[in-house]
Amino acid sequence: MRQRVLSGMRPSGKLHLGHLHGVLHNWRNMQHDYDCFFFVADWHALTTNYENPWSISGNIGEMVMDWIACGIDPEKSTLFVQSDIKEHAELHLLLSMITPVSWLERNPTYKEQQQQLKEMDLATYGFLGYPVLQAADIIMYKAHKVPVGVDQLPHVELTREITRRFNYLYGEVFPVPEALLAETPKLPGLDGRKMSKSYGNSIFLSDSDEDIRSKIATMVTDIERPRKSDPGDPEKRCVAFQLHKLYLSAERLKEIEEDCKAAKLGCVACKKELAEALVQGLAEVHERRLALSANPQKIREILLEGAEKARKVAGSTISQVRDAIWIQRAT
Ligand code: TRP
Repeated sequence: MRQRVLSGMRPSGKLHLGHLHGVLHNWRNMQHDYDCFFFVADWHALTTNYENPWSISGNIGEMVMDWIACGIDPEKSTLFVQSDIKEHAELHLLLSMITPVSWLERNPTYKEQQQQLKEMDLATYGFLGYPVLQAADIIMYKAHKVPVGVDQLPHVELTREITRRFNYLYGEVFPVPEALLAETPKLPGLDGRKMSKSYGNSIFLSDSDEDIRSKIATMVTDIERPRKSDPGDPEKRCVAFQLHKLYLSAERLKEIEEDCKAAKLGCVACKKELAEALVQGLAEVHERRLALSANPQKIREILLEGAEKARKVAGSTISQVRDAIWIQRAT
């Protein structure tokens, strides 16, 4: 039997190249070797966006379109929305009984996010319990592997602790899941900081060819190279060069590096070439996305079917959980 993989994403807006190279390529490749469940974590989005829930529901379809356009295949993987499977709420409740508050309070992302999102009141019960809900998501499907970015490692670690505690108290119901870190290439945004929607430095998967061209034209290059006649050092100093690495052939990359160092190739021409390579590289994603957005009903059907499959697994897990807990109590 193939091992099971589970991962999720909050529907917090349009996806960008950072998601594509950091997460989606990883998910796509895992589909061949694992039984994959990928879901939209809309309840998790509610922990920080409870004041405007409508912004969440609007993003769900768009995000799933992005997934599929990037090669996540609903024929191979189970795609669903968290809140369609009420069992997640029950398992979350039961896990909350055995999770010490101190484990949650010492979770580094908890304090960090509270500080970063100062304008929101995050001193809520739900936000503290974010990792408990995540643990429920993961073990519900008895996942062996959880492909995530480094920022999620503390959450997966907590999931492992909660799982061990459950198994110790009620019997070995769950495999202890493992995080699977992808080798993600460093992907800077247009300004050189990490690509992030909140920094306004992203290239979105839904951007048109023209958007891509004008965005790349503004991208920071080697700041210590004000004139074309100055020799550059792309590997050390040029932000755009990190993107070149993903979209140009190895030979062309080498030529560009040499010509930049020899002050033969200017940044304007170089970025034009990058923009065209990106437009080409994303053409297939764009085409699929366009076809999907012309048929929103299709996405609804995919998510409905996915929910049905997920519910079967979740239903069976939850009855094992109920048995395990109540039987223990009766003896
Ligand atoms: N916390 C994850 C994020 O912000 C989303 C998430 C929720 C998740 N449940 C999960 C990821 C279970 C992996 C497994 O990206």
